[in-house]
Amino acid sequence: MAVQETYNYKVVRQFAVMTIVWAIVGLSVGVFIAAQLAWPALNFDIPWLTYSRLRPLHTNAVIFAFGGSALFATSYYVVQRTSHVRLFSDKLAAFTFWGWQAIIVSAAITLPLGITSSKEYAELEWPIDILVTLVWVAYAVVFFGTIAKRRMAHIYVANWFYGAFIITIAVLHVVNSLAIPVGLWKSYSVYAGVQDAMIQWWYGHNAVGFFLTAGFLGMMYYFVSKQANRPVYSYRLSVVHFWALIFTYIWAGPHHLHYTALPGWVQSLGMTMSLVLLAPSWGGMINGIMTLSGAWEKLRTDPVLRLLVVSIAFYGMSTFEGPMMSIKTVNALSHYTDWTIGHVHSGALGWVALISLGSLYYLIPRLFGRELYSLKLVEIHFWVATIGIVLYITAMWVAGIMQGLMWRAVNPDGTLTYSFVESVQAMHPYFIIRFLGGILFLSGTLVMAYNLWKSVAGAKTIEAAVPVPAAAH
Ligand code: HEM
Ligand code: HEM
Repeated sequence: MAVQETYNYKVVRQFAVMTIVWAIVGLSVGVFIAAQLAWPALNFDIPWLTYSRLRPLHTNAVIFAFGGSALFATSYYVVQRTSHVRLFSDKLAAFTFWGWQAIIVSAAITLPLGITSSKEYAELEWPIDILVTLVWVAYAVVFFGTIAKRRMAHIYVANWFYGAFIITIAVLHVVNSLAIPVGLWKSYSVYAGVQDAMIQWWYGHNAVGFFLTAGFLGMMYYFVSKQANRPVYSYRLSVVHFWALIFTYIWAGPHHLHYTALPGWVQSLGMTMSLVLLAPSWGGMINGIMTLSGAWEKLRTDPVLRLLVVSIAFYGMSTFEGPMMSIKTVNALSHYTDWTIGHVHSGALGWVALISLGSLYYLIPRLFGRELYSLKLVEIHFWVATIGIVLYITAMWVAGIMQGLMWRAVNPDGTLTYSFVESVQAMHPYFIIRFLGGILFLSGTLVMAYNLWKSVAGAKTIEAAVPVPAAAH
């Protein structure tokens, strides 16, 4: 039976290809703004190129364009393969693809023009927000419709994570984006003051928990298992992991608002739930890594598997660091510093980007029915990317802790030891190291794009492209 007749791979292919395209765009903007921080003259006095406008362009491009496309591609693939049915509706699936790309292009135009709601990770103005809602509802219908018509009694755990991601993002987006328009491109939030801040960080933290974590855990539970050719280490643990994680994440937002006008007990609650979050996060990490038990030797010969496993290790690292940073006394040092930026990128580059790219190495050759062109190039990608991440995050740890200590240093007479500008000057070498780390990570991604391009254009077809309906469990 031909591949296309059984499953809708067209939309998966489209999203998978755009994942690579948006990765290159988003990472390039990241490298550019990293360069601007080291050499501010790089804004060339052009308003569209100012750091303040390009920074949200970077975050939107990497999170929603790159990460979002990876999530759409993999969730559509996994839900079909593990439910043994075609997507619920081809037309709606096509709408989600074109709608999502239209949103990304609108973001790429409006953000450099300075059109923004100025809420972090929710900068897009109200007409685009409405389009996001429509696409998201269509996504939910396609995903849950497919689950509803599945041929298996069981719903594989990866789908639980994807499902939670889809539902929670819908709620977060709608509640946080409620605004009163005062023109086509300007609106004001319906919330004010500390309520606005709390809603924003309830959204912001759960964007991390559900957009940057839950969906990618869905990827982990399918693709690590497939690439290692092993069942998930403990299926029972994966179910406990799911419920514990989604219950705990939703409370942790206030750790972004320590020492603000938010009531102290809310801050303490956020801190406590963030510490509790270490347990489910590590439960999931252990489950992912232990899926390799009995297959450890594959790590020597399979660089794709190595990429996936290192991503889980970074997940473990950032979910250890996060709870530590949520402790109020630690946060007093880390908040506003580059330590936060280091934490963000150990999660974003180490976990989100690597698990996505690793999954695409599995997915793209199969979607196009071709063999992977070169394992040697995957090996090179693995090392270049890993060294890039390590340079980035270690530079930011040192820079961040140094900033925090310089800001709080006082002379015996109570005056500040360092002026703010001195702390900025001290950052210069670290900003250059971060820039170099970014160049390395971007180069690795370009090597991957070349490798996949050669695979797809190549003549070596594979049998594995014909779907054998075997779920990962
Ligand atoms: C080539 C790789 C990358 C480079 C060089 C890079 C660079 C940067 C820079 C310079 C900033 C601004 C830092 C500041 O304001 O002090 C930033 C912020 C950010 N980046 Fe990246 N980035 C990269 C990849 C990524 C990826 C793959 C993701 C997500 C999947 C990501 C997510 C973010 C987020 C969420 C922020 C905002 C952090 C915050 O506000 O605390 N970045 N990035
Ligand atoms: C147990 C899990 C985690 C906890 C408890 C946690 C906790 C924290 C804390 C305390 C901050 C600093 C807040 C501040 O001082 O402003 C922070 C910032 C951040 N974390 Fe995490 N983190 C976790 C996992 C992750 C992961 C896995 C990622 C990425 C994939 C991530 C992405 C971010 C981002 C983007 C920010 C910056 C938000 C902003 O200010 O713009 N976190 N996190």
